[in-house]
Amino acid sequence: MKINTAEFIVSNSDVSKCPNEPLPEYAFIGRSNVGKSSLINMITNRNSLAKTSGKPGKTQLINHFKINENWYLVDLPGYGYARVSKSTKETFQKFITDYFERREQLVCAFVLIDIRLEAQKIDLEFINYLGETEVPFCIVFTKADKISRGKVDQHIAAYRKKLLANNWEEMPQHFVTSSTEGTGRDALLSYIEEVNQG
Ligand code: GTP
Ligand code: MG
Repeated sequence: MKINTAEFIVSNSDVSKCPNEPLPEYAFIGRSNVGKSSLINMITNRNSLAKTSGKPGKTQLINHFKINENWYLVDLPGYGYARVSKSTKETFQKFITDYFERREQLVCAFVLIDIRLEAQKIDLEFINYLGETEVPFCIVFTKADKISRGKVDQHIAAYRKKLLANNWEEMPQHFVTSSTEGTGRDALLSYIEEVNQG
């Protein structure tokens, strides 16, 4: 799919104020600093559509970006910045759980995972929460440029094992990306195009 237009529409902390058109949307979620905003810029080929930072906690609101006039990418704040591990619901701002529980336009959540790290409890908790909430999701491994190709495969295999140990029957649909190198862009866009076409 070619990206012809990508425009910022609105930021807010209230799901009832998100755009109310019946257009499909894809949300990017994951730990602070995992690369959600960078991936939105990479996919849309725009340098600074979404604001990025080397410091965690940059994105603070629900941000809607309208693509090709007929679907949305949604940038969300990260979780897991707080040092103390609490339950997903407590760690998360209520407006984010509201978003996942009430947003009818959401067709798929992309859960971003730093490919370099061992499976983190907070990500597994969040994935389980999406399962319980019945939100369709894919896993997007980020920062693949930071490790070798062989290590990428190893890390994915380890992640799969961890999910199976957490009562998932199969590894969900997943993508390997690098925002600095453009890796995974075509695969993600093809997937979105397929879902948009139903
Ligand atoms: P919050 O908004 O704070 O939750 O963070 P975020 O998940 O939106 O992360 P962001 O896109 O702001 O990126 C965080 C840092 O990681 C920045 O310094 C990016 O340049 C860097 N980064 C993001 N993606 C990649 C990648 O694929 N490769 C490399 N090498 N660095 C990346
Ligand atoms: Mg961000």
